[in-house]
Amino acid sequence: MKFFIDTANVDEIRDAVSMGMADGVTTNPSLMAREGGEPVAILKEITSLVAGPVSAEVISLDTEGMIQEARGLAMIADNIVVKIPMTVDGLKAVRVLSMEGIRTNVTLIFSPLQALMAVKAGANYVSPFVGRLDDLGQEGMPLVEQIGQIFMNYEFHAEIIVASIRTPMHVLDAALVGAHIATIPHSVLAKLAYHPMTDKGIEGFMADWQRVHGN
Ligand code: G3P
Repeated sequence: MKFFIDTANVDEIRDAVSMGMADGVTTNPSLMAREGGEPVAILKEITSLVAGPVSAEVISLDTEGMIQEARGLAMIADNIVVKIPMTVDGLKAVRVLSMEGIRTNVTLIFSPLQALMAVKAGANYVSPFVGRLDDLGQEGMPLVEQIGQIFMNYEFHAEIIVASIRTPMHVLDAALVGAHIATIPHSVLAKLAYHPMTDKGIEGFMADWQRVHGN
């Protein structure tokens, strides 16, 4: 499973790259706004830090506006993927962009049929939001499983990006259901590497060594 980093913060991205954990990056308008600064300059820097796909989301809500914005975003770098919200206008934009060879990631997916429509329109990636479903008391991960099943039934080649990840369990479940990609906030990435028994083990090894050899 590929790990994308769900952030627009370049320090977090640099850290994930240095761990070998950044196969790509996803941003959204909230994450970009959190960073302040000039969005194009931030995206340019992010695309230079990672070789893999970097999702940048449009702000327009109408088809024509999305298409214009997407063309501009795609010119920032070869590894830009344009994030389009899952609406009827969004589907129409995805169709045009896919014919132009601009890669898209359809975001804010909350049902398997939305994912089916996105892929039929020509999306390269679909982003089901598992955490936001869990927040409502509706389990998010079965959605990922169902999308995976539908894509397999009909041999769609779009990749599933499990988004809105809040916990290490989300990452584990995404891997167990065979999702192509999990997009992970930096705070969750740090938790994945941690186990108290690892720390306890290191402490014990160091104490034993120092007893014999000193510091
Ligand atoms: O990038 C989209 C997604 O991962 C947002 O997550 O935590 O705002 O639901 P969250």
